[in-house]
Parts: sequence; C-alpha cells; structure tokens
Amino acid sequence: MKIEILPSLLAADFGRLADEILRAEASGADALHLDIMDPHFVPNLSFGPDVVALSRRVAPDFYRNVHLMMSRPDLYLEKFASAGAQTIQIHVEADCDLHTELRRIRALGAKPAIVLNPETPVERLYPYLDEADEVLVMTVHPGYGGQKFIADCLPKVTWLRERRPGLDIMIDGGGNAETIPLSAKAGANQFVAGSYLFKQADMKSAVADLRGRIAGADAK
Ligand code: DX5
Ligand code: ZN
Repeated sequence: MKIEILPSLLAADFGRLADEILRAEASGADALHLDIMDPHFVPNLSFGPDVVALSRRVAPDFYRNVHLMMSRPDLYLEKFASAGAQTIQIHVEADCDLHTELRRIRALGAKPAIVLNPETPVERLYPYLDEADEVLVMTVHPGYGGQKFIADCLPKVTWLRERRPGLDIMIDGGGNAETIPLSAKAGANQFVAGSYLFKQADMKSAVADLRGRIAGADAK
C-alpha cells in the first residue's frame, strides 16, 4: 500500500495561508487535507470552497483531499469539485443518500471517500465499501484540531484492512509520532496530522521521521 502523509490545513496560521500551503507542499507530504465544517454537523465552522481554490492556485500540483464535515454535503459537491477537490470525503452519518452521492463525486471527476465517526459502528460502512476509493476512520470527534487520539477507534481500521487488503484507509485526528505508527500497525496507510505537523519549525524533517516510524511499525 502506498503510504501517505497529509497535513491538515486547519492547524495552519490563517494569517499566512498561502505560505503555509507551500510549506506543507515543500515538506514532502503527499497531499493537503482540507477540513470543511458546518455547525450543524460539528460544533464549529472552518472554511469553504474558496480555500480549496486558493490551494489549487498556490500549489497546483499538491493533491487536495477534502473532508466534508457537513450534514448536507450533497448540496455542495459541485462547488468543491469545481474549486479543485481531488478526493471528496463524506460522512456515513450525513443526511443524504450515500450511494447516490458517492457516485456523483466520481461523476464530477473526484475520488469518492467515506468517513466514520468514533461512535459509529464500522459495519455501517459495509453497504458502501465497493463504491468508495478510500475510507477515513476518525480518531477524534470531529470539530476541532489538537484533540487527543482515541485509540479505541483502531480496531475498526483492522476490521476494514482484513476485509479489504487493497483499500486506502486513512486516520484523522490526534496524529503524531506515537499515534501514527500505532495506526499503521492497525492497518492504516494514510495519515492526517494537523497540529503536530504545523507546529514543527522543520516540517520536512517531521514528515521524514513519520515515514521512518511508519516503515518500522509492523503492519498486521
Ligand atoms: C477534526 C478534523 C481533523 C483535524 C486534525 O475535526 O477533521 O482533520 O484537523 O487535526 P489534529 O491533527 O490537530 O488532530
Ligand atoms: Zn479531517
């Protein structure tokens, strides 16, 4: 499986957003994770399609992985796709027909992905697994960066990896030098890290260090 590390832009200095996007790209990370929140789905607001478009403008070759923490992502798929979202992640807990929307994401030219909150049983994903290119297992309750990693979510990663050896499985929330190797051992191959990476003076070394630790973790 291809290992991917994704800095989450939510943890960037918003006063220097373009520079922060370029810093993440120059770190050698594989893609930028963009967290879109509405206050119905989570107790917070973040940013919208304009920031996805900004990322495309300042770093056109840096892959854009867009995480929609929204109750009605179906109303915004076109906007995010035309702003440059390359993978679009929608929650299984969202208030829309997942089969229809995963298909629509693909028709819009993006990769469809499905996300699972910590309290949601992994079996809820089963009907959609063949329609998603990627599964994101949340390892915090979505809404804020900088929260503590919930290790109890990792058995879901292993459950998925046992059933889908070739599926891209991502973890998001509380990712750092300790929790990312644990997630790799559980079977994940894509790792979001927001506050951990953006607080680094040398993000490039931190990304290289994470790659070494992931390679050293014995995948199940
Ligand atoms: C949580 C977001 C995460 C978050 C990750 O609501 O979906 O992507 O920004 O940030 P850290 O790595 O700081 O937990
Ligand atoms: Zn996220």
